[in-house]
Amino acid sequence: MIIAKSRAEVKRYTEGETVGFVPTMGALHEGHGTLVTASKDDGNYTVVCIFINPSQFNNPSDFENYPINLEDDIAYLDSLGCDLVFIPKVYEVYRSGDDEGRYIHHFGSLETRFEGEFRPGHFRGVAQVVHILFEIVEPAMAYFGEKDIQQLAVVRALSSKLGGKIAIVGIETKREKSGLAMSSRNLRLTSDQLQKATLIHQCLTMAQSGFKSKSVVSIKEEVRLKFEADAEWNLEYFEVIDPQTFDPITVWAGPCRAVVAAHLGEIRLIDNIAIP
Ligand code: PAJ
Repeated sequence: MIIAKSRAEVKRYTEGETVGFVPTMGALHEGHGTLVTASKDDGNYTVVCIFINPSQFNNPSDFENYPINLEDDIAYLDSLGCDLVFIPKVYEVYRSGDDEGRYIHHFGSLETRFEGEFRPGHFRGVAQVVHILFEIVEPAMAYFGEKDIQQLAVVRALSSKLGGKIAIVGIETKREKSGLAMSSRNLRLTSDQLQKATLIHQCLTMAQSGFKSKSVVSIKEEVRLKFEADAEWNLEYFEVIDPQTFDPITVWAGPCRAVVAAHLGEIRLIDNIAIP
């Protein structure tokens, strides 16, 4: 596996290859691993980027405390058959002037609700870095997790805005046995919190199985009460949405998605599930 630190190295090693790209912020787990394996299975020369992107953190302490596990990450990627890992410094990704102009994209209501509402500027930072990384890596296909379903929608919109040449592949959320979605942030949960965190998936599966017998309103109310029962939880949103528009729905009609974000102590967790 090649370890590249500069744009020039990435260009040199990927020349003539059909590239499958997996952007990450490191602290890798099996969720990231499924994206890498999907790219390998599709026959791509697989490039993973590890870059903790400062422009997408609206909360400075979240950025400062973001877990770093570089040695383990490199060994893990090597074991998965990753071809090249790109580990740039901030100055290698961002050049002067990148904060305005062509790397700044807008996505209408997609960037102002749910994650966009609670993390102002987050998707602008995500789209900015993904656009820059797409230019460096020039992938044919790029892999993103359904875990971050709104990010996946933003990246799909970005890709079509850029001409639709990069196929965006969405990969199902990888979970712990408990149902908890794998996340780098789980590393910051205590064992007691890891137990409590399963509430998120319980509420999602409750919505998934209850949609035939209960109203959207009553499911949302039930969820709200479950989170309010423990002072360590702070529920930001639990909504049922149209998966295309992200508009909240009030009556069940066709496929939809339940999305949730909540703080458990200091740690912010998000998840979602397809219904039915
Ligand atoms: P990061 O949180 O490291 O996630 C990298 C990719 O892994 C994302 O596409 C995310 O959706 C996917 N992923 C995370 N947990 C997963 C799980 N349990 N199952 C399946 N896929 C999972 O998302 C980012 O980084 C950044 O915003 C990034 C796109 C790299 C831009 O900086």
